[in-house]
Amino acid sequence: MAAKSIKQELLRRIEDRSAVVGIIGLGYVGLPLAVEFAKAGFRVIGYDVSQRVVDLLNAGDSHIQDVPASEVAALVRGGLFEASTDEVRLNECDAISIAVPTPLSKTRDPDMSYVISASQTAMRQVKKGVLVALESTTYPGTTREILMPALSSRGFTVGEDVFVAFSPERVDPGNPVYHTKNTPKVVGGITPACVDVASAFYQTCIDTIVPVSSPEAAELVKLLENTFRSVNIGLVNEMAIVCDKLGVDVWEVIDAAGTKPFGFMKFTPGPGIGGHCIPLDPHYLAWKMRTLNYKTRFVDLASEINSQMPAFVVEKVAHALNADRKPVNGSKILVLGVAYKRDIDDVRESPALDVMRLLEGQGAIVQFHDPFIPIVREDGHEHHGVDLTTKLLESADAVVVVTDHKSVDYQFVMDHASLIVDSRNVTKKLVKTKARVVSLSDSRGT
Ligand SMILES: NC(=O)c1ccc[n+]([C@@H]2O[C@H](COP(=O)([O-])OP(=O)(O)OC[C@H]3O[C@@H](n4cnc5c(N)ncnc54)[C@H](O)[C@@H]3O)[C@@H](O)[C@H]2O)c1
Repeated sequence: MAAKSIKQELLRRIEDRSAVVGIIGLGYVGLPLAVEFAKAGFRVIGYDVSQRVVDLLNAGDSHIQDVPASEVAALVRGGLFEASTDEVRLNECDAISIAVPTPLSKTRDPDMSYVISASQTAMRQVKKGVLVALESTTYPGTTREILMPALSSRGFTVGEDVFVAFSPERVDPGNPVYHTKNTPKVVGGITPACVDVASAFYQTCIDTIVPVSSPEAAELVKLLENTFRSVNIGLVNEMAIVCDKLGVDVWEVIDAAGTKPFGFMKFTPGPGIGGHCIPLDPHYLAWKMRTLNYKTRFVDLASEINSQMPAFVVEKVAHALNADRKPVNGSKILVLGVAYKRDIDDVRESPALDVMRLLEGQGAIVQFHDPFIPIVREDGHEHHGVDLTTKLLESADAVVVVTDHKSVDYQFVMDHASLIVDSRNVTKKLVKTKARVVSLSDSRGT
C-alpha cells in the first residue's frame, strides 16, 4: 500500500472506530485513557506487566481512584475493554499509547528503563500502518532517540509505514472539574503525517487538541508546566520562611496579593511537594541540560527549597514542643494526612513520609491518620493508619497537619488536641478552642 493510503486507511479506521486501541501501562494515566477510548467506541486492549492490575481490571474492578469500578466493569462486560499481560495482544492494535513510569534513579537521573522496555514491546508487536504515541513525561528528545529508532529497526519508515508522536498526559488526580476528556491535549509528531494521525486519534475522545511542531516541543511543554509549578511553589515556600523570620502571616500576605486582578497567580506554601510529577519532572529537564553543559538554576533552586520544607515543618514541631517543655524524643505525634495532596490516595514522594521519617529519627512516637490511606509501606516498614478519636487527640503531644483532606473535621481536632502544627492553614477559619496552633510562618504561635 502506498504511504498516502496507509495513512488514509488508519484515519478511516480511527474515524469509524474499527481501529483497535492498545494502552501500555494501566496506571494513573493509562487506565483513564483506556476508559476514554473505550467510551468513544473503540475496542481497547490494555497491556501491563502487573498480573495483579490485569486480573483486577478484567474482574471489573479499578485500582485508580478517579476511575469508578462500575465504569471498568461495564466496558469489560460490553467487550470494549480487556487487560492482558501478554504483549502479543498488542499485535491486534492500530494505535498504541505508552503510559509507563518515568521515575528517577538513586542519583536523581532519569530512569528510562520503563520507556525503553515499553518501546521494545511496541517494536516487537507493531505492524505496518500503526500509530505509537508516548505519553510518559520525559526529557526532550526521548521520542526521537528511543521510540522512533525502536520502530525504525523493524524496517518501517516513520511517517509513512508507522506514525510516531509524543502527547503528554496532563491528568490531575482528584480534580473534580478537569479530567482526561476536557483537558486540552498537546500533540507533537515526528512528521506532519504523524501529527495528523495522532491528532485524529486523540480527537475521538478528548475535546481539544493542540498540535505543536515536533515531539521535542511537546515533551518540553509538559516539563515547562511542571517546572512552572515547582518554581512557583518554591517561591511561596521561601516566602513562608521569610515571613516566619519576620513574624508575618504568609497566608495573609498571599491572600492579599491574590486580590490583584492581573500579574499575580496564587500559589500556596506547604510541607513540600509530592506525587509522580512535580518533584521528579524538572529533574528530567535539568539532566538533559547538563548533557548540553547548561545548568538550569531555577529548576535546581526550587527543588532545593521544596525538598527542605519537611525539615522546616519538623523544626516547627520541635520548637512548639519545646515551648511546652517537651523534647521530640518520646513525644507522641499524630501526622494528619499522608497523601501527597488533598483528597487523593497516592503517597508517592509525599512530604509526609519525610516528616514522619525525620520525627522518628529524633525519637518521636509517630502515628498517622488519613481517610484515603490505611497503610504506608516504606523501606520494608509498614505504618498502619489510626482512627481520629478524642482519645487519640488528647493523648498526642502534637498534631501535624501535612495534607489538608476536605473530609477531616479540623474543628474536632482543634477541640481536643493540645498543639497543632498547621502546615496548610486549615485552622484559619476555625473557632479557637483548645489547641495552640503553630502556623508555617509564625514562630510566635497563637
Ligand atoms: N500520575 C499522574 O498524575 C501523572 C500525570 C501526568 C503525567 N504522568 C506521567 O505518566 C507516566 C505514567 O505515570 P502513572 O502515574 O500512570 O504511573 P503508574 O505507576 O500509576 O502506572 C504505570 C503502569 O505501567 C506498568 N508498567 C511498567 N512498566 C511496564 C512495561 N514495560 N510494559 C507495560 N506496563 C508497564 C506498571 O505496572 C503500572 O501499572 C509517567 O511518565 C508520569 O510522569 C503522571
